[in-house]
Amino acid sequence: MEIKTNYPLKNHNTFGIAANAKEFASVQSVAELAEVLKENKGKKLFILGGGSNMLLTQNIDALVIHVNLKGKEVVWQDDNTVHIKAMAGENWHEFVLYCIDQGYGGIENLSLIPGNVGTTPIQNIGAYGKEIKDTMVSCEAIDRETQQLVTFTNKDCEFGYRESVFKGRLKDKYIITSVTFGLTKTNHVINTSYGDIAAELASHNIVSPTIKEVSNAITTIRQSKLPDPKELGNSGSFFKNPVITIEQFERIYLQHPTMPHYTLDDSFVKVPAGWLIEQCGFKGKRFGDAGVHAKQALVLVNYGTATGQELLNLSKNIQQTVLDTFGISIEAEVNVI
Ligand code: EPU
Repeated sequence: MEIKTNYPLKNHNTFGIAANAKEFASVQSVAELAEVLKENKGKKLFILGGGSNMLLTQNIDALVIHVNLKGKEVVWQDDNTVHIKAMAGENWHEFVLYCIDQGYGGIENLSLIPGNVGTTPIQNIGAYGKEIKDTMVSCEAIDRETQQLVTFTNKDCEFGYRESVFKGRLKDKYIITSVTFGLTKTNHVINTSYGDIAAELASHNIVSPTIKEVSNAITTIRQSKLPDPKELGNSGSFFKNPVITIEQFERIYLQHPTMPHYTLDDSFVKVPAGWLIEQCGFKGKRFGDAGVHAKQALVLVNYGTATGQELLNLSKNIQQTVLDTFGISIEAEVNVI
């Protein structure tokens, strides 16, 4: 197993930040992964998937393991349902398109989310009314210490909004090697209730959409709001949408009756961080090469040579301004390294 030293990570993070790994190994199989873990016991490790949810503010002083496991296979099916297993290094969007081409429904609302399959359960990726937890049957992960392969059921993952056991209790204990999804072959459950999907479909005179048409509509909407990391470095939503109390919401709503919001229960309301950031005047603002996307204020962008530190400073400036203006703390969704 070849271990490279002082390895550049610019092409391994969607923000396009220039930073180096002290050591770097790309593994192509579970056996190789086990081997590298066994031979490098005691070393500080950093696990890299698609690099789509991290902000590098410094060089990584660790052995970076690039999880480059490929492959997908149907592991079970009957007339209506299929269980398909994808290896962790498969590109998420290509996997979504593959499933749609096979006629498998359930993940079409998660089209065009950057990153790899293996990292999707970690933060329970979600968009347009669907989350990974709605279709994930199980995932396999290797224990970093013992190299034992363990299966986690959906319940074992303790999923929440952009949360799972892999971010909490079991942080840094396992490396996900594959994920199995339970998808529909017939009677697809089409969910077009969120945001602009219905309007986008209506503009094409589509009344009862197929899974492919839902995917196309979401791809169009995402492309209109979210920058393509290949053209403009970014990491999707930089912040999570905050949850506030009803009392706090009512106070702000009196002054801002146009504030979008989602009532969660009798006590709590979720508000879009993008809206709060826009109200604070950051949308489309640029500070050197670090900026706030002009079409979606939740997304920070690297116009070229921004450093991770510059983007981090911008994010802190935004957090402080939102706190001073609305009394609401917004938390980063992206992992700051
Ligand atoms: N809004 C603004 N200004 C902005 C951005 C948003 O006023 O600059 C308002 C919109 O007008 C809308 C509301 O905020 O009323 C919600 O906006 P949007 O539908 O774009 O969704 P979001 O809550 O900002 C979340 C996810 C996205 C996901 C979309 C669609 C989080 C942190 N983000 O964004 O996920 O694509 O919903 O489902 O939950 C990601 O995680 O990387 C990501 C892009």
